[in-house]
Amino acid sequence: MGRYEIKGGKPLNGTVTISGAKNAAVAILPAALLVNGCCRIENVPDISDVRILLAILEDMGVKIQRPDESTVILDNSGFTGKSPNEELVRKLRASYYLMGALLGRFGKAFVALPGGCNFASRPIDQHIKGFAALGADVVETEDYVSMTPGPNGLRGNRISLDVVSVGATVNIMIAATLLPGQTVIENAAKEPHIVDLANFLNTMGAHISGAGTDTVKIRGVDALRGGTYAIIPDQIEAGTYMAAAVATGGNVLIKNVIPKHMECITSKLAEMGAEVINYDDAIRIKRPGPLRHTTVKTHPYPGFPTDMQAQICVCMALASGVSRLTESVYETRFFGYCSELESMGADIQITGKTAIITGTDTLYGATVSAHDLRAGAALVIAGLAAEGTTWVKNIHYVERGYERIIEKLAALGATIRRVED
Ligand code: UD1
Repeated sequence: MGRYEIKGGKPLNGTVTISGAKNAAVAILPAALLVNGCCRIENVPDISDVRILLAILEDMGVKIQRPDESTVILDNSGFTGKSPNEELVRKLRASYYLMGALLGRFGKAFVALPGGCNFASRPIDQHIKGFAALGADVVETEDYVSMTPGPNGLRGNRISLDVVSVGATVNIMIAATLLPGQTVIENAAKEPHIVDLANFLNTMGAHISGAGTDTVKIRGVDALRGGTYAIIPDQIEAGTYMAAAVATGGNVLIKNVIPKHMECITSKLAEMGAEVINYDDAIRIKRPGPLRHTTVKTHPYPGFPTDMQAQICVCMALASGVSRLTESVYETRFFGYCSELESMGADIQITGKTAIITGTDTLYGATVSAHDLRAGAALVIAGLAAEGTTWVKNIHYVERGYERIIEKLAALGATIRRVED
């Protein structure tokens, strides 16, 4: 286990290239189990969540090649439906997509309950509701989910989600792709990685329409063939570097982004005083003067993402006046980092779902601990903006989702290094 040492107070300047989207990769890799044969997936981020997922798939009999660090070739011809390794499954949240993949491909699944970032209670009742609507008999214990075909077999159905859930939308899409009949998911999530998953599955021969709207339709097909697919750029990684540029008063060209995916984040940062220029697949962001306070409420896409809550909180902590930050997806998310930011000089009062942040001119280096992935990213940004030296502990959380973060920040002029404990 290591920690980051950050000598802060320097504006970030230069160019950073964004990696493939974590949340798309962790959906597409399990979905690849539906494919008969080989598929080549490009722009895969080299992060620990992906490495664990690949280890799970390899243990299940999938042959994996990595011709370069961002490409994965999966050959499923030796895959027999073996249950995923319990210990590895508990290391990441997205391993629950193996439930949908195994149910869809083999009609049954036995998968341990996932681990991952526990910044809130993260129920999976909507996933289970979806699997049951597709005809599965589902047994859920404290430790695992087991599914077999129900008395009428597995087939497409209409499912209306009670809450907009990314995970449930993904899992139902994966499970339904190879089932007979049509599945309709109402109140579906609309995140860019839902669209990316649909594009991946359609490239392999699936019939999915409506992804990116709140109604996704899946017409079951008999089999998926192999093919090549490139994952979209990571919206949240891009947003994190934008927030870092703004917090440090820098000027950064962020390459390999889809500006449309960034609209909600760019408009808030612009409201706070950042200058943003959109290109076809890049964004330049700079902060010419002081930051102004603002109000942000997180929402499912296309709203302001909960996964950017902690990073914009750092910008708010450095803005003039009083900002309000309201969380509407995961209420307990503030507890992962606000007290750590306070130890660096931030002034944050939490009242229910809202953090009231009174801006300060300066944050000060301190020893802080990441409690989840995005909280860790926010502490790194705070360290970059702060006077003095910051130590960020528990960096394994950060490394779940940020590819080569040290190299990328150092190339932007940051003084940051990883120190082994
Ligand atoms: C995904 C993202 C995560 C992001 C989150 C919200 C991945 C791998 N992770 O997580 O980074 O923070 O979306 O954008 O893509 N809920 C239920 N029952 C369920 C499922 C969800 O009540 O069965 C609730 C959750 O408690 C939460 C809300 O629905 O309040 C949204 O959760 P969901 O979209 O499912 O988040 P994840 O897919 O776990």
